[in-house]
Amino acid sequence: MTGASRGPGRARQDAIYRAGVFGRHPSVPTDAAELERRAHKAMSPTAWAYVAGGAGEGATMRHNREAFDRWRVVPRILHGVTSRDLTTTVLGTPLRAPLLLAPVGAGCLVAPDSDVAIARGAAAAGVPYVLSNQGCNPLEDTAAAMGATPFWQQLYWSTDEPLVDSLIGRAEAAGARALVVTLDTTMLGWRPQDLNLGSLPFARGLGIAQYTSDARFRALVAERIAAASGSRAKAQVTVGAVRTLLTMSWTHPGDLWDNLRSPEPRAAVETFLDIYSNPALSWAHIGTLRERTSLPVLLKGILHPDDARRAFEEGVDGIIVSNHGGRQVDRAVASLDALVAVREAVGPDPVVLLDSGVRTGADLFVALALGADACLLGRPHIYGLALDGADGVRQVVENVVAELDLTMALVGVGSIGAITRDLLVASPG
Ligand code: FNR
Ligand code: LAC
Repeated sequence: MTGASRGPGRARQDAIYRAGVFGRHPSVPTDAAELERRAHKAMSPTAWAYVAGGAGEGATMRHNREAFDRWRVVPRILHGVTSRDLTTTVLGTPLRAPLLLAPVGAGCLVAPDSDVAIARGAAAAGVPYVLSNQGCNPLEDTAAAMGATPFWQQLYWSTDEPLVDSLIGRAEAAGARALVVTLDTTMLGWRPQDLNLGSLPFARGLGIAQYTSDARFRALVAERIAAASGSRAKAQVTVGAVRTLLTMSWTHPGDLWDNLRSPEPRAAVETFLDIYSNPALSWAHIGTLRERTSLPVLLKGILHPDDARRAFEEGVDGIIVSNHGGRQVDRAVASLDALVAVREAVGPDPVVLLDSGVRTGADLFVALALGADACLLGRPHIYGLALDGADGVRQVVENVVAELDLTMALVGVGSIGAITRDLLVASPG
């Protein structure tokens, strides 16, 4: 019997235990807590602050995990489930398991060419990736690294409408299978870990590759440089400023030495900071999407059942219940709790995905039982990237899928559709 026919859970166990016979351990821990601890050690203080940090006191991040802790799985016995089918399809995208990688910006704080490395890891694990609008590689390069594995494109809605069209057009041309519009980050939340270090990746030119690779954006930068010529204020020369200039020039497209002498990298950062996201975004903007793209549209960052209902009334194809991993509003409702209310409000049919707090295959099982069609995995894949690059990402995904498969096998469900609410109980008290 091949590993594949026994399912991904036993195949993954076999691979790890067989290597163990020769004294080899997985380079990426198989549990979320140790994964996070080891990644912390491997990451710079600014990278750790940005990735692991959250809004305010971190209460929302805690809520996300506590919500999972309030549900318990009730396994059945003697059910005869010997094989499982983990596949599903969301908005026409076939999924090997109900899991995608969440969009994560400024990953190059963690590893160079982060988006391409994540894409390679996702592709190796056969799981789609939602490319970030704040990525470190042009989306075309990341798309190419996905090979035949589908990807979706996330959009931050700029105040510059032609830039919005340009980004959508590029995503379509590169082969994205859906557009994910993130709505909870029209500005960044209050993030003490970053604030205490005075660290904003974008201000150093990290995480703006979709912009600097965009013709419309570059035209805006050129306009800015032309308008400012002759009136450029002298920048203060400090070690920090020189370091920032180097980072900006290094990440900006083109030759490092040319960039160091050019006003362009700094003007690109300033232009980005001006037009990044639109706090005036409204349902009217969302309504324009039908004419602007043929892709399925998902709205990410929905927590209130009324917003979920409205989204489907406005004709979007799917929603992602998310509190952005607790990075935006502190003391916010847990994403999993919001999922329960949202599913109840919209009924069984509309496409509802979940992220924020998903760490393991058992979490995935609980979220599916509570009505998610699939989940997005966020921070854990970045921790995998920190520990072992693309292969670290692959391993993190394989581990989550393996645990989902084993959970299904042990509980007694043979398909994703069979993961239902009656397999859970709320924790007593
Ligand atoms: C994010 N997230 C995010 N979301 C998005 O739509 N566009 C983005 O560019 C980013 N960038 C980003 C960077 C980092 C470092 C993190 C941790 C998160 C949010 C992400 O897609 C997802 O909603 C959360 O990661 C889910 O929370 P957990 O499960 O990672 O805690
Ligand atoms: C963040 C943005 C980029 O969470 O989504 O940092």
